[in-house]
Amino acid sequence: MNDSVAILGIETSCDETAAAVVIDGRQVLSSVVASQDELHAKFRGVVPEIASRAHLERINIIVGEAMSRAEFDFDRLDAIAAVNTPGLIGSLLIGFTAAKTFAWILEKPLIDINHIHAHAYGALMSNDADERALPAVGLIVSGGHTSLFHCQTPLDMDLIGKTRDDAAGEAFDKVATVLGLPYPGGPAIDRLARQGDPEAIKFPRTWLGPESFDFSFSGIKTAVLYHVRGAKLTKPDSSHLSDRQRADIAASFQAAVVEVLVEKSIRACRARQVQTLLVGGGVAANSYLRDRLSARCRDEAIRLLLADRKMCTDNAAMVAGLAWHKYKAGRFADLSEAVRST
Ligand code: KG4
Ligand code: ZN
Repeated sequence: MNDSVAILGIETSCDETAAAVVIDGRQVLSSVVASQDELHAKFRGVVPEIASRAHLERINIIVGEAMSRAEFDFDRLDAIAAVNTPGLIGSLLIGFTAAKTFAWILEKPLIDINHIHAHAYGALMSNDADERALPAVGLIVSGGHTSLFHCQTPLDMDLIGKTRDDAAGEAFDKVATVLGLPYPGGPAIDRLARQGDPEAIKFPRTWLGPESFDFSFSGIKTAVLYHVRGAKLTKPDSSHLSDRQRADIAASFQAAVVEVLVEKSIRACRARQVQTLLVGGGVAANSYLRDRLSARCRDEAIRLLLADRKMCTDNAAMVAGLAWHKYKAGRFADLSEAVRST
């Protein structure tokens, strides 16, 4: 008698259409992600209306692909899970409505998943760790969020800090625009910064007081803008910069953002007296952040569970993984459950 639990997960909270089949919260049978980067690149940011239309065109294809790669029949699934918050409302609506429809037709339970909690769970999954690695602090850094959580169990994550303005990924994307780099900006800055000096320019670090676990990245974004275009914004763009200057700006900006992310995470571990730090979200793919986190966690004897690069950006394996814990706890959603942007 096989009593393992197979869950189909769906993720459409922003601009990735993703589906995955996961057994018992950790064995990933398939994980399919269709990126929309090429649709949004010319706007240098995600256009909500374009994102939801693309999800609508792709969702059935991506779910079908996840099922066939997993070599799994729909009737063998135990539940259908999808992200219903936070995210772009039109995007969430497509994935969650698809999940409801599958759940209703197949007569399987529906599970609603919080996208940011799924990112934190993705860090556990990537490291073959489970709930025994908890309690932990979770740092989730993406294009839409920069949050610190106290994770007591996979289903019990208390928010202890968040950005008061821009998310870290948003700052990477905007600074990349100022430097004339391609979209999405995070990976482009990551690459360029490798040729630059992180100490060349002392950009501001915003701490918001010694006790605060909140973040703010709008100040540094503006500081980079003035640095590049002059105090009176007299220069039209960044074309007057040498390659060396451009690399130094990228490296110095990245160093400032990373220092705040790393030190606040370590401080949160100390304040909550936990020995484990989970890190996920798109910006967690950043190589300088990964290096600094590894070094500081080693110094502080904190166990670092970093999501793999492919688990960092949006995917549905983390959704189906976390859903297993809700399944075991019997926490199912009603078909009338709504999506919420925050
Ligand atoms: O988690 P994610 O795929 O989507 C959201 O939920 O927002 O994160 C996307 C964000 C973008 O802002 C992108 O520029 C950033 O993650 N990003 C990076 C890197 N790779 C992706 N930022 C810095 N360095 C990277 N290597
Ligand atoms: Zn995300």
